[in-house]
Amino acid sequence: MATLAINGGPKAVTRDPGDIFVHPIIDERDEKAIVEMLHSRQMSSIEPSLALEEQYARWQGTRYALAHNTGTAALYGALWGVGVGEGDEVICPSVTYWASAMPVLSLRGVVVFADIERATLCIDPEDVRRKITERTKAIMAVHIYGHPADMDALMEISEETGVPVIEDVSHAHGARYKGRLVGSLGQVSAMSLMTGKALPTSEGGMLCTDDQEIYERAIVFGHYGRIAKYCEMEEYRRLQGLALGGHKFRMNGFSAAMAQVQLEKYPGILEEKEKAAKLWWGLLEDVPGIVPHYPKWEDSTLGGWYAPHGIYDQDAAPNNLPLKSFARAVTAEGTVCRAGGYRLLHRHPAFNDYAIYGEDVPTAVRFAQEDMRMGDDDLPQTMEMFRRVYNIPRFSFCDEEYITQCANAYRKVMEHADEVPIEEGDETDEGLGLAGFTQQR
Ligand SMILES: Cc1ncc(COP(=O)(O)O)c(C=O)c1O
Repeated sequence: MATLAINGGPKAVTRDPGDIFVHPIIDERDEKAIVEMLHSRQMSSIEPSLALEEQYARWQGTRYALAHNTGTAALYGALWGVGVGEGDEVICPSVTYWASAMPVLSLRGVVVFADIERATLCIDPEDVRRKITERTKAIMAVHIYGHPADMDALMEISEETGVPVIEDVSHAHGARYKGRLVGSLGQVSAMSLMTGKALPTSEGGMLCTDDQEIYERAIVFGHYGRIAKYCEMEEYRRLQGLALGGHKFRMNGFSAAMAQVQLEKYPGILEEKEKAAKLWWGLLEDVPGIVPHYPKWEDSTLGGWYAPHGIYDQDAAPNNLPLKSFARAVTAEGTVCRAGGYRLLHRHPAFNDYAIYGEDVPTAVRFAQEDMRMGDDDLPQTMEMFRRVYNIPRFSFCDEEYITQCANAYRKVMEHADEVPIEEGDETDEGLGLAGFTQQR
């Protein structure tokens, strides 16, 4: 039996990774599109965005797509689009990037954090149901780390209560939920297209909806150049091209041009990544302590293998091996394994103490009926899973040999669990929260 690399043995991963971690996948089509855009001098025009939107809406399966300069802006537009304003509550998971929640504060709304499900790591519909009040204006469903949220259960709540669901698809472009594409299931969806995302451009975002009013409101909020031509509602035409949100959210031409090329290539890229994801989790299926983060519903997939994570079950791991010790030993074998996931928003100072707009109380409670700030004992599944997730390698395509070597590194460490060195602090939460994700090897 081989000695663990952390104890001086040979590494499980011996092969050069080649291009498997290179992202985005760029070729001469992207180059041509950027150079053509430069010479067309259309960088500030909406024409390139219009072409992208038509293509995007067709792919996403929604009536409208509205290109934004960031995913953050698209979420902001979606929130105002469904009518979030002063005192309105938006139910949101704590396990997400801050842009799913912060714009609610900018709109003088209230973020109500809901717990997550252990298997999906996405918002728990049962907790959402408990947290609905007459002030709830939206439910934010984030398809976290590529995994679809349980949209049927959320849409059932939406139908019963009339509260719209906003999907944040920034991690999950092209993920299928029970045969349907996420991003077309809620009343509106918003997603980032920044360079790191599975469907990338330089910086960019997209808002998708079938609902004309949400679409027109999103235009009115931050797309002054379209109001006269694209808003049919008289109330908005009166604005004569002034954006009520005071924002300028349009996508620049370079981003739109590159996004068009990337979207053309995306179905092929997605297929490769789905193959990689299935191979990876299939190889680790029988390893104790390793729980796949992969949808269990029929005809459902991870979207684009973005920020992929695994779930750790320390009780099932041999020798009760702590996650941090496991991750350190796997890393020594020559592949990625980093304990932790997103920093939890409900414990972040921005949602607890900051008076962001000069209020005399923290912004998080300024417009709330009651103080809903949370402590360490709230959101028990969120707290528990925070200690049990870890970042896994992000493969750009399915290189069977290389992926098998990486999976073997995980298997090897578990098979030698009793030899893994355990350091002081390995059982604590210290260093688990990550603000974001960088390119990994
Ligand atoms: C879940 C989530 N929502 C929203 C965003 C914001 O997107 P952007 O960075 O394009 O503004 C990101 C990523 O950056 C994200 O990961």
